[in-house]
Amino acid sequence: MPGSRVARRRRYLVCEPRHFAVRYAINPWMHPDRPVDVSLAQRQWRTLVATYRDHGHTVETVNPEPGLPDMVFAANAAVVVEGRVFGSLFCAPERRPESVPYEAWFKSEGFDVQHPESVCEGEGDLVPAGRWILAGTGFRTTREAHREVQEFFGIPVIGLTLVDPYFYHLDTALFVLDDENVAYYPDAFSPGSREVLERLYPDAVTATREDAMAFGLNSVSDGRHVFIAPEATALAGRLADRGYVPVPVDLSEFHKAGGGIKCCTQEIRS
Ligand code: ARG
Repeated sequence: MPGSRVARRRRYLVCEPRHFAVRYAINPWMHPDRPVDVSLAQRQWRTLVATYRDHGHTVETVNPEPGLPDMVFAANAAVVVEGRVFGSLFCAPERRPESVPYEAWFKSEGFDVQHPESVCEGEGDLVPAGRWILAGTGFRTTREAHREVQEFFGIPVIGLTLVDPYFYHLDTALFVLDDENVAYYPDAFSPGSREVLERLYPDAVTATREDAMAFGLNSVSDGRHVFIAPEATALAGRLADRGYVPVPVDLSEFHKAGGGIKCCTQEIRS
C-alpha cells in the first residue's frame, strides 16, 4: 500500500574509498587490468553517505588503511545484532588484515568482538532478517561459521546455498526490506534454498538477472526508502508497487570490485 511503509533510523558504519583499487581477483567482477577511477569512486561514495544522512540516518566512519583496497566494503567486517559484534575471518588472505582496523573501531566504541573460528564474511553472508539470520554459503562463509553465529547470538540461522559465482555473497542476491520481507534473485540459489525462501517469504519481491547483475539486490532498506542502484529499474518498479520508495544511488565504480551500496554499508543494530 503506497505511503504506508515506515522508515526506522539506522546507524551505519562506512569506510572512505581513499585506497580503493582492484589489485587482485577474488570474484568474477574483478579485473586488475581494468583501471578504477578513484576520484569518481570517492564522489559516488560521498553521495551515498550524504543520501543516508539526508534520510535521517547516522553514519560513522572507520579510517581506511593503505594496502587494503577492499576495506571500503564495510559490510564484510562483522555482523552486529542487539549490540553484539561477531567479527570476520576473510576467505582471501589479501582481505584478512582488514579485521584489525575494524575490530579496533568496534573496541573504541565500547563493543567486544567475537572472533570466528571458520571463514565468515560478516554481513556479506549473514543477513539479520527480523526473527532469524539468513546465512549464505557456497563461496565464502562456511556452514561451520553459520553454526558459530547461531551459538553466539542465540538467533536461528537459516543456511542458504549460493550457486552462481557472480553472486558470491548473500548480499549480492538478497536484501532485507523490513522485518517481514525480502527481495531476492531466485537463480542465485540452489533449488532447495529457493524453496526455503519461498516458504519463508511467500510475498517476497523477486528480481530479474538484469536487476541482479546491476547490483540491484545489493541494496539497503530502512523499511521505507530503498537505496538502490539506478540501473535496477525493473526491481525499483516492483518495490514502488509495494509501497517502498526507491532512492537511486550510483556506485558503479565499485561494481568493478564486485561491490555496491550494501557492501559499503555495515549496520550497527543496537
Ligand atoms: N572485492 C570484494 C570481495 O570480493 C568485494 C566485497 C563486496 N562486499 C559485499 N558485501 N558483497 O571480497
